[in-house]
Parts: sequence; C-alpha cells; structure tokens
Amino acid sequence: MGTQGTGAEPMAGDPGPPQAQRLAGRAAIVTGAGSREAGPDGPTVGNGRATAILLAREGARVALVDERPDWAEDTRQIIAGEGGEAILLEADVADAESCRRAVERALEAFGPLQILVNSVGIAGPPGNAVEVDPEDWDRAMRVNVTSMVLMAKHVLPSMIEAGGGSIVNISSVAGLLGGHPSLLYPTSKTAIIGLTRSMAAHHGRQGVRVNAIAPGMVYTPMVAARGMTPELRELRRQRSLMQTEGTAWDVAAAAAFLASDAARWITGVVLPVDAGATAGLSRMPSPRADTGPGSPDLLGSPGGGQEEGWV
Ligand SMILES: NC(=O)c1ccc[n+]([C@@H]2O[C@H](COP(=O)([O-])OP(=O)(O)OC[C@H]3O[C@@H](n4cnc5c(N)ncnc54)[C@H](O)[C@@H]3O)[C@@H](O)[C@H]2O)c1
Repeated sequence: MGTQGTGAEPMAGDPGPPQAQRLAGRAAIVTGAGSREAGPDGPTVGNGRATAILLAREGARVALVDERPDWAEDTRQIIAGEGGEAILLEADVADAESCRRAVERALEAFGPLQILVNSVGIAGPPGNAVEVDPEDWDRAMRVNVTSMVLMAKHVLPSMIEAGGGSIVNISSVAGLLGGHPSLLYPTSKTAIIGLTRSMAAHHGRQGVRVNAIAPGMVYTPMVAARGMTPELRELRRQRSLMQTEGTAWDVAAAAAFLASDAARWITGVVLPVDAGATAGLSRMPSPRADTGPGSPDLLGSPGGGQEEGWV
C-alpha cells in the first residue's frame, strides 16, 4: 500500500489485503484436468491438474473434465486429500454432445459456473503443409480449438445469467512465435489467441472476461512422456531470459489469478508465462557500439557494453 493509503479513507480501487481464498463460493470447470503417467522420475503435474488444484486451494469447487477418467481421478484424490471439493466428469471435449453433457452435470452438481479453464491440448500430427495428414489435422484442430468453443457454448448462458465469470484458454508460446517444427500445433495455438480476443469482445458487456495464457516450455508429463532427454530439457531451460525451468504450477498460478477478481479489469489478453522466452534473447549478436563523438555509453560500462555483445 502506498503512502496515500495510510489515512482513514482507503484509496479508490485499492483491492485491500490479498485474500487466501480468492475463489471461495465459485464453481469451475477445468478441461484436461488429468495428467498422464510420465514415469517414476517424471513430473506428475500437468497444466490442467495444477490449475484444478490451485483453484480448489483458493476455495473453488472444481469439475475435472478429461477423456481419461483414471488420470483425472488422481487429480480428484489430490484435491479431496487437501480438503477441497472436486467432481470427475469423463468427456471428449472434441465432441459436441460430450461437452453439453459434461456442462450439464457440472451445473447439476454446483449450480452456476463462474470459471472455465480450457486446458486440453495435444501436440497433434507432425509435418509441414506437404507432409501433414489432412484428417489428422482436422481432428487435432477440433481437440485444440473447437473444443474451447464447444465448452464455452454450454457454459456461457448460465455464466451470463448469474452475472458473469472468467474463461481462461491455454495457448502456447508456439502461438506467438514461428519456428515450430510442425504446422498443426502453432496454427492451433495462434487460433486460440484470435478466439480469445473475439470472445472477450462478444461477452465483455455481459460480465465475462476471456483471457489466454501462453505457457513457455514447461516441464509436464506430456513433455516428459514424449522422450525428453536431459540434453533437450537443458536446451528448453536455456531458451528463456531467466534460464530457469518452468512447471505447470507457474501456469496454474496465472490461471488462478485470471480467474479471480484480482483480474477484474483484464480481458482479451494473452499472458506469456515463459520466463521471458517471447520477450527477447538474452544474448543478441550485434555490431560494435557507435563510439563516435557524443555517442552514449549504452550500458554505462567501460567497454560500452561490447563485452556483452550488446549495442
Ligand atoms: N507442457 C508444455 O510445455 C506446454 C507448453 C505450452 C502449452 N501447453 C499446453 O498446456 C495444455 C496442457 O498441457 P499438458 O502438458 O499439461 O498436457 P497433459 O498431456 O499432461 O494433459 C492433457 C490432458 O488433456 C486430456 N485430453 C486430451 N485430449 C482430450 C480430449 N479430447 N478430451 C478430454 N480430455 C483430453 C488428457 O487426457 C490429459 O489428461 C495443452 O493445451 C498444451 O498445449 C503445454
């Protein structure tokens, strides 16, 4: 709190002390709330599972949607073991009727839903435009993109009727940058950004905020199960400005924030959670600094920053 807040009157808009239970009384759906088995040394928490756990810790009742009930059941048990409330809903989010049924069951169990986190996403088929199988392409686009529309279609009416809510869509830094080896994955993740902005515009006046998170290369069971060598893992770590490895908890913390009233004035944004991977490169090859008359010592260092390779 700033010095202006020390008087008797609180500063306008000051949210006050942080509340541990920001989501008490809220009901949420998290899709992809399971986590695959990544082996004895792998991580046990994917983005959907970590998000479901953090939402529950903040007081929300959480419907865990996953096509793998065995994986989501583990998430349910973790939440129940911590004293939280969660139900398991088996559903294929690429299927319209499956989404309708899942939302119906969540509404029956919890009443109006204030939070929807669309976390399901798959790597999809490999290959460039020449190589990729068109049918696999359609199926993966349905899982990664159409699923978010299908879930929102059934969640939005009751959310709007109850006064609004928050939708969080999990995109990826692959949706912000070129250079991904496959065509499907970055295309689908970029589509989620357009979808998020459009939905934010459509439903803003109805009190519904719609935001996207673009995780960087976090270490999750999906990644570990796809043949992560120590060398590759190290390369992924080095790819960000901070050069630290991220986990699903980092993504989940952002999702819990966007779901909460702390983000009441935030909609239509894409929040990279990537240790700076999309902000820039930590080492940029550059020409020599301009040392002509009047040119500033750019880094304030004796060598004008040249020893760091910066201009
Ligand atoms: N792990 C990363 O480095 C990373 C980076 C950027 C973005 N992401 C995104 O985060 C999200 C989650 O990734 P993760 O690594 O936690 O994955 P994960 O494989 O650990 O979890 C995905 C879950 O989704 C479920 N699922 C898959 N298809 C489904 C369907 N059709 N219907 C219902 N459930 C289905 C799976 O059963 C699984 O439980 C994805 O959207 C992914 O693209 C991950």
